[in-house]
Order: sequence, then C-alpha cells, then structure tokens
Amino acid sequence: MKEQLEQIKQSALAALDAASTPAALEELRVKLLGKKGELTAVLKQMGKLSAEERPVMGQLANSVRASIEEKLEKRKADIHAAALEAKLAAEAIDVTIPGKSVSIGHQHPMNQVLQTIKDIFVGLGYQVVDGPEVELADYNFTRLNIEEGHPSRDRSDTFYFTDDDSVLLRTQTSPMQIRYMENHKPPLCMLAPGRVFRKDEADATHSPMFHQIEGLVVAENITMGDLKGALTTIMRKIYGEDAVMRFRPHHFPFTEPSCEMDMQCHKCHGTGEVDGQVCSTCHGEGWIELLGAGMVHPKVLENCGIDPEKYSGFAFGMGLERLAMGRMKINDLRLIFDNDIRFLNQF
Ligand code: DAH
Repeated sequence: MKEQLEQIKQSALAALDAASTPAALEELRVKLLGKKGELTAVLKQMGKLSAEERPVMGQLANSVRASIEEKLEKRKADIHAAALEAKLAAEAIDVTIPGKSVSIGHQHPMNQVLQTIKDIFVGLGYQVVDGPEVELADYNFTRLNIEEGHPSRDRSDTFYFTDDDSVLLRTQTSPMQIRYMENHKPPLCMLAPGRVFRKDEADATHSPMFHQIEGLVVAENITMGDLKGALTTIMRKIYGEDAVMRFRPHHFPFTEPSCEMDMQCHKCHGTGEVDGQVCSTCHGEGWIELLGAGMVHPKVLENCGIDPEKYSGFAFGMGLERLAMGRMKINDLRLIFDNDIRFLNQF
C-alpha cells in the first residue's frame, strides 16, 4: 500500500506539472482527489490493515493528499499568472508611437457671417429670436398688409401646404415682426435670422432656399433718421468704416415710407468700370443692393395691437447670402450650398 501511495504521489505531481489549462487541472483534481478518485480508492482498503499499520498508512495518505493539494494550488496560480502575462503582452500599447492627428472642422462661412452680424446687433441691444419656417399666410402676408391677389402670394412663387393657401413655407422673415409684436410691448428691438423659401430656379444669384435677417425697432418717437443711423452704423461695422452707403426710395406693403439701401461697389468704387471693362461685381451699376427697409406701416402696428398714434418704428430685411458673398468675394451662390470641402476650407 505504501508503494501504491508513493506511486500515486509521483504520477500525480508529474501530471499536475504537465497540465497547462484550468480545465485540465480540474479534471486531474477529480481524478486524484474526488470520491471516485485514485486516493479514495486506496483509502477504502485501509480496513484490511492491522491496527499498527493503519495510523502509519493514514498519516502517509494524508501527507500524499496534502502534497497533491499544495501542488494543485501552485499550478492554478502559475497558470493564472501565465494567462494574465499573455493577455497583457497581447494588449500592449506602445505609447511612444506618434498619434493620429484629428482634423478639427470650423463653422460654415454662412454661420461665420451670421455670427458676426448677430454680435453687432446684440451689442446694440437687439434681442435675437427664432421663428417657424412653416408659417401661416396670415403672418407671412395678410397682417403684413400684403393683400389678396398680391403677386408674391402667387402659387408660382410660394410653396403652399394646403389647398386654401393658408399654410406655407415662409417667403420672408418679415412674419417674425408680427409674431414678436404679438408678444412684446414697445420699446422693442428684435433681430430674426432664418431660412426662407421661394419657387426660384437655382442659378448664380438665386436659390429656392436662402437666408434673411429681419430687424425691427418700435418705440416712441422713432424716425427715419434712426433707421438711417442704425443701418449706416451696422454696415460700417460689417464692411469697414470707409464703406459708402445710399438710401433709395422703394415700395414695400408693410412699411411707409420704404427704401432700399445700397453700398458703393468696393471693386470699382462707384464708377462701374475696372480697367476699361464693365465691373463684374456690380455689373456696371456702381452700387450693390443690400437690404429693404422702411418705417413700420401704421396698419401693421394696429394688426399687432400697438397704437400707431403713440408708437412708431423701423424695420429692415437683408439677404444673408448676398452679404456673405460680398464680404467673402464669392461669385456663385450655389457654392455656398454645395458643401464641397475644398470650397469650405478656404474660409
Ligand atoms: N421682406 C422683404 C423681402 O423679402 C424685405 C424687407 C423690406 C423687410 C422692407 C423689411 C422691410 O423688414 O422693412 O423682400
């Protein structure tokens, strides 16, 4: 029996040394120490031994079991450590390799110009607001004093959603004047930038979607002088202190009197010619149209519950694309919307 135990010990230790996975170790543990294991089988024969031999063999059996258990634990720890080592080696990161540079984008040129303009107006005390692109004809036309049958209401010019022409894609940001005056009492100073939509074919100067910036100031004793002063200040901030402006009479249904503001062409300085050729920037006009403006029509104030006897105001609307094209010397409107990265990266 003694030899049997020695034999079990030797082969067990060798087998444990050879095992290389946790599963193999577990299999050996059951085989060697389990209820049906080799050691148990030997111990079952103890009854046959004499009273003197029994404690000696018992002791020997226990020490064999202890050796096997000790070896088992050691191998478990070894295998675990080896697995960890292998995992760490496989996942090693070389922190000395140069990183991949991430290219950071920038604002779209239109947003850059919009941001500049917003900053100027905020500095002058205007509140910047946002409004719906899907608008009621009531706000887009009627309450702006644009009557039924006016050409701008035509189905060939405006995108309508309903058969009765009551819901549309706004054709201008002017409805924001009505929306703002409905909810604010004078004195008020508002700026409303946003998208507008018209049934226009896209070409170098037209797009079915473009941006406008609407401005509105209403208070007591506001005059045309305030309009001219405010717009001149703003345009000088945008185009530079030496920019030359002019106001021209015009007509809009929602302002009276109305005007358009032009800037002297920065390329030909108003002469309409560059090196004996017609100036390509202003097409020989000498002036570039910037915006429409005027004194808010008394009917429009009334339509918003504001007393035109007590209050007066001015309003203006400018095209953001035109402004950006002038400032950034872009000659085709479509470039702004194509989103070609080679174009955008120039700004
Ligand atoms: N909404 C006009 C347009 O789209 C521009 C405009 C003109 C806006 C005069 C105004 C204004 O606020 O007073 O052509």
